[in-house]
Amino acid sequence: DARAVARGCTTIEELEAAVRAFEGCALKRTAKNTVFADGVPGAPLMIVGEAPGADEDRIGKPFVGVSGQLMDLMLEAIGRRRSESVYITNILFWRPPGNRTPTLAEQAICMAFTRRHIELAKPRVLVLAGGTAAKSVLDTTEGIMRLRGKWATLTLDDGSTVPALPTFHPAYLLRTPASKRQSWWDLLAIDKKLRELTPPA
Ligand code: URA
Repeated sequence: DARAVARGCTTIEELEAAVRAFEGCALKRTAKNTVFADGVPGAPLMIVGEAPGADEDRIGKPFVGVSGQLMDLMLEAIGRRRSESVYITNILFWRPPGNRTPTLAEQAICMAFTRRHIELAKPRVLVLAGGTAAKSVLDTTEGIMRLRGKWATLTLDDGSTVPALPTFHPAYLLRTPASKRQSWWDLLAIDKKLRELTPPA
C-alpha cells in the first residue's frame, strides 16, 4: 500500500523510484509519463499543484505548459527561479484523462507519497496552488476562496511542521485575471515568510 511504500523511502530519489514503480493508481495506465517534480529538491520554497496536464504528461515535468509559464513569471517577481530556489510537484503524478479533477480516491492514494515528499524535501514554506491541492494537503473541505491567503500549519507524520499558504492556481488566474491582485498579495506574503525563515547567509 502507498503509505507503507512511502514510509520506507528515506531520500527523495528513493521516493521518486517508488512512485515510478507504483502500480496502485489507475491513472498511470492512461498517462504517458510519471510527473514527479522539477526544480531544486530541498529548496526553501516548495509548490504543490494539482495534476499534470497534456504538456506535463508529454514532457514528464510539472508546470511546463501555460500555467507553468505564468507560475515562473510570478516566482520571478519575488526573485525566485525553479532552477535555483524552488521545488515543484503535484498531488497527482499522472495526468487524469481529459484533465478531469482527480477523484478523492486517486488523491488519497497519491497523498501518502506527497506527504512523505514534503517530509523529505523539508521546505521552509509550502505553497498550495489551487483548491484541489489545498483541500487535499490540508485535509479540509473549505474552498479555495476561503483558504487562500491564510497561512495554515501542516503537521507531517514525523511530527515536523511547515507553514503552508493556499493560493489561486495559475490556470484560474489565466481565466480570471482580476484575481491576480490577490495572488500578488500572496506572493508578497510568501516572500516575507521566506525572508523571516531563511536569513541571508
Ligand atoms: N496544473 C497543475 O496543477 N500542475 C501542473 O503540473 C500543470 C498544470
